[in-house]
Amino acid sequence: MRALRIESIGKVALAEVPDPVAGPGEAVVELKAAALNRRDLWIKLGQYAGLRFPCIPGSDGAGVVASVGAGADASWVGRQVVINPSFDWGPGEGAQGPDFSILGLPRDGTLAERVAVPAQQLFPKPAHLTMEEAAAVPLSGLTAWRALMSRARLAPGERVLVTGIGGGVALFALQFAVACGNETWVSSGSDEKIARAVRLGARGGFRYDRDGWAAASKESGPFDVIIDSAGGAGFGSLLELARPGGRIAFFGATRGSVPELALRRVFWKQLSLLGSTMGSPADWSAMMAFVAGHGIKPVVSEVLSLERGAEAFDHMERGGQFGKIVIRM
Ligand SMILES: NC(=O)c1ccc[n+]([C@@H]2O[C@H](COP(=O)([O-])OP(=O)(O)OC[C@H]3O[C@@H](n4cnc5c(N)ncnc54)[C@H](OP(=O)(O)O)[C@@H]3O)[C@@H](O)[C@H]2O)c1
Repeated sequence: MRALRIESIGKVALAEVPDPVAGPGEAVVELKAAALNRRDLWIKLGQYAGLRFPCIPGSDGAGVVASVGAGADASWVGRQVVINPSFDWGPGEGAQGPDFSILGLPRDGTLAERVAVPAQQLFPKPAHLTMEEAAAVPLSGLTAWRALMSRARLAPGERVLVTGIGGGVALFALQFAVACGNETWVSSGSDEKIARAVRLGARGGFRYDRDGWAAASKESGPFDVIIDSAGGAGFGSLLELARPGGRIAFFGATRGSVPELALRRVFWKQLSLLGSTMGSPADWSAMMAFVAGHGIKPVVSEVLSLERGAEAFDHMERGGQFGKIVIRM
């Protein structure tokens, strides 16, 4: 089969590789579409734990089950599915256990024509989504759901700020909050992305790249819940914008660690800083039910063929996307 492989740091290439075989309890999915996450880019750049080259990245995929291994439910064969990329979460809802892993490193991922996964990771494709839309949901939808719902525990009537709205996860957080009826604001490095977020239901937005943006946007705050994945020097502004008693849930550090954290502001305002990563099987089921129940369609920035996969990585690195970059097989 053909697969997009990361051969070494910085080098993505289309390769001919052996077809995967379904082991005991596993299924092979004939992928119709996959989607990129920033994780795939971190792996390409050599900035991820447990690197091994060559590897087939990709955590998001949708397709048709081609075969199952011994002990797996044969009724999956021929069904349209999406794959839950959160493997071996473990027994606790509070955090993942020591065996937790993510599809697409250490095991081969979805940027390929076929992938083998444990059958328990399969989920029926929501009927309202095309294969390309369904492939855009898994990792970002799950991460946004856990951060917003399970960690920040969004409640009716609360005001929300989602930072860096061009990001795949950020857009799901916006869509989920808007679907719940919460007033939601965004930040971005682009006026056009803010305008597009407003068309998706955001009340308005702020340019995080302008000096003094937090002070200027205070009139629109304060916010009960803030969802962030940038971190870095800008994180301090979020402490200003949070309402006393507010929660800041964060799942990434695109801009690195926070150089200086104003601890006094955190305790005086009784803020909760909540780390979040991916999601449990319960988060996954709740998120997929919400997506189906509210007819949520992911925002797809662009769809490229597998042959143009290297370009897709470049596009994500430039940060030009608004939503998910999808790869069609
Ligand atoms: N822990 C987890 O389970 C988990 C899961 C998924 C992702 N992540 C991490 O979360 C981050 C986002 O992932 P993603 O897949 O959504 O990435 P993505 O689609 O590449 O989005 C990144 C976004 O970050 C925004 N950004 C850049 N600089 C910013 C700043 N200074 N302030 C605010 N926003 C800024 C940009 O927004 P604009 O384009 O609007 O300017 C950009 O679109 C990455 O670091 C990723 O590794 C973690």
